[in-house]
Amino acid sequence: MAETERRQNRTLPDRDAPIGVFDSGVGGLTVVREIMRQIPNEKIIYFGDTARVPYGNKSRKTVTRFSQQIVRFLRTFQVKTIVVACNTASAYAMEALEQDIDIPIIGVVKPGARAAVSATGNGRIGVIATEATIGSQIYTKYIQELNQNISIYGKACPLFVPLVEEGLWEDPVTDEIARRYLTELIDIDIDTLILGCTHYPLIRSTLGKIMGERVTLVNPAYETARELRELLIRHGLLREEPPALGSNRYQFYISDKADKFVHFANSIIKYGILSAKTVNIEAY
Ligand code: DGL
Repeated sequence: MAETERRQNRTLPDRDAPIGVFDSGVGGLTVVREIMRQIPNEKIIYFGDTARVPYGNKSRKTVTRFSQQIVRFLRTFQVKTIVVACNTASAYAMEALEQDIDIPIIGVVKPGARAAVSATGNGRIGVIATEATIGSQIYTKYIQELNQNISIYGKACPLFVPLVEEGLWEDPVTDEIARRYLTELIDIDIDTLILGCTHYPLIRSTLGKIMGERVTLVNPAYETARELRELLIRHGLLREEPPALGSNRYQFYISDKADKFVHFANSIIKYGILSAKTVNIEAY
């Protein structure tokens, strides 16, 4: 169906409908946390692909297939918009997802890239992320679309995800690994560093300490929630009132067992998550 025809035929999403957010696992909760803070009246359906995490070492084809399944699952809740909270999924699957969706969709990479371009003074930006996100060069592409004169230096930091998931947010082990990863970015004299993976905002203080005060840390989770708010306003979809009490305001779904997820979720979100439902995502 032609794009204009599809637009004309679509039914407009409902302002009261929830926002669908997904990630490869628990990391996207850093984005949920920002959405809860910045647009507190919204309802959220979160899906974390805990059975198939990590995405950061998988191929574009696999991550795209997983992301498409998750979007189909989220759409069963009539969500009004989709937030791709995972950097790797945003890097690999965003174009494919945008092509076959008729509701607003936002990833974390573009907001992060835009914020970094505004922040840099010396035109030297570092990006830390998974191997997949760095390999895709997606941050380089978006940043250079905005300003060709900026140099971007990517560094894959695969050990950060397991360290964060083990709760070692402020620990000598994380300090040591971070120093090894970041030394080359310090030597290159970047003045802005994009935390290009969902987990990294949780070790922000360690990263900030190592990079020093001169380097601005950009948190795509924060920038995405900010741009999401603007997107909802633009589409007339921002909720003005909080949902009624007892209306299942935040719902969490995952693809594997719930206990670890619930424990982790409660360590970063103050809402008090009691449960997460397991879904057979391969069925979508
Ligand atoms: N959520 C992923 C990201 O932001 C990190 C974890 C993974 O590799 O799946 O890139």
